[in-house]
Amino acid sequence: MGSGPLVEARKTATARAHSNIAFVKYWGNRDHSLRLPANSSISMNLSALHTTTIVDWNRRLGEDLLTINGKAAGEGTLRRVREHLDVLRRRFGMDAFASVASRNNFPMGTGIASSASAFAALTVAAAAAARFELTEREMSALARLGSGSAARSVPAGYVEWLAGSSHETSFAEAFAPPQHWDLVDVIAIVSREHKHVGSSAGHMTAASSALQPARVASARARIDAVKQSIMRRDFDRFASIVEEDSNLMHAVMMTSRPPLLYWEPLSLMIMKAVRRWRQQEGIAVCYTLDAGPNVHCICLASDAGAVSGRLLALSEGIEVMQSGVGAGAGVMPPA
Ligand code: PMV
Repeated sequence: MGSGPLVEARKTATARAHSNIAFVKYWGNRDHSLRLPANSSISMNLSALHTTTIVDWNRRLGEDLLTINGKAAGEGTLRRVREHLDVLRRRFGMDAFASVASRNNFPMGTGIASSASAFAALTVAAAAAARFELTEREMSALARLGSGSAARSVPAGYVEWLAGSSHETSFAEAFAPPQHWDLVDVIAIVSREHKHVGSSAGHMTAASSALQPARVASARARIDAVKQSIMRRDFDRFASIVEEDSNLMHAVMMTSRPPLLYWEPLSLMIMKAVRRWRQQEGIAVCYTLDAGPNVHCICLASDAGAVSGRLLALSEGIEVMQSGVGAGAGVMPPA
C-alpha cells in the first residue's frame, strides 16, 4: 500500500499574520456580502501582535473544527470561519473539511481586534495546505471576504487597501516596507470589556449617518496626504490627518442609527493628553481609535518610552502594549 493514500488524506500547513492599525479607516461597505468597502484605507502591520494558524484539510472529518488558543470556538465564530472555509474550498477545488487551530500571541479580551490577523492567517494556511498557489493580490482579496481589514494584513509594512469595484479589484498592497519608518503603536487599553457592537454589524449602520457621504468623499485626499507624509517621514502632517480621520469615523459612528458610542471617559482623557504632549512638549505622538475605547498612540520609536510612561502615569485604569511595524502574512515551518 505505501504511504501515498495517507499523505493525501490529510494536507496541513501553518501560517502567521500580524494585526494592523488603520491610519485612514475603513467604515461601511458598498457591498456587504463581498465586503467591498465604501472607501480605500491605509494601515501599518503590528509586529508584536500576531495570529498563528494551523489548517489541516482532513478527509476523515465530517465537519469543520476550530479551536482558538486551545479552546473550542463559540458558535458565532465557528459559523463565520465555516463560511470562509466554504469560500476557500470553492476556490481551491477542495472537498475535505478542515480542522483549524488558531493562536493569538496577544491576550484575548483586551479589546484588541484579532479578526484581521485571524482571517489573513487562516487564508494563507488554508491555501498552503491545499498546495494552491495564489498571488499576494488574490490572497489579500480572499482574506477580505473573511474580514475587511484582513486584506491589509497580507502584504508587509505600510499598506493601502484599494476599495475597488469587484472582488478581484478590492485588495491591499504595500507602499513602503516595515523598515521605511520606525513608527510604534503604544496601545492604551482602557477597557477589557468585549465590544457590544462589533465592526461587522457596525459597517451595516454606517450608511445611516448623514456624515458618512462626506467622510467617504474626502477619504482619497486623506489617503494621499497620509501616504505622502509617510514617504517623507513628516510626523506633524501625518499626526494631524490620522487624528482627523479617526475623529471623522467616530463622528459617523456617533451619528448612525442606532448611535455607536465607543469612547469611554478615559479614551477622551488620553486623546486630549496626546495632543498636549505633541503640541506643548514636542513629543511625536498622535492617536487613533478603532471600533472600541482603546487608544492607539502612534509615535516615533524614539518617543515610545516617553509615551508609555506618560500613559501609565495618567490613570491606574490604563494598561499599555507596544508594537513596531510588522511583516506580511506567511507560511511557517511545521512545528
Ligand atoms: O475588518 P473589520 O470588519 O473588523 O473592520 C475594521 C474597522 C476598523 O477597525 C474600525 C477600521 C479599520 O480600517 O481597521
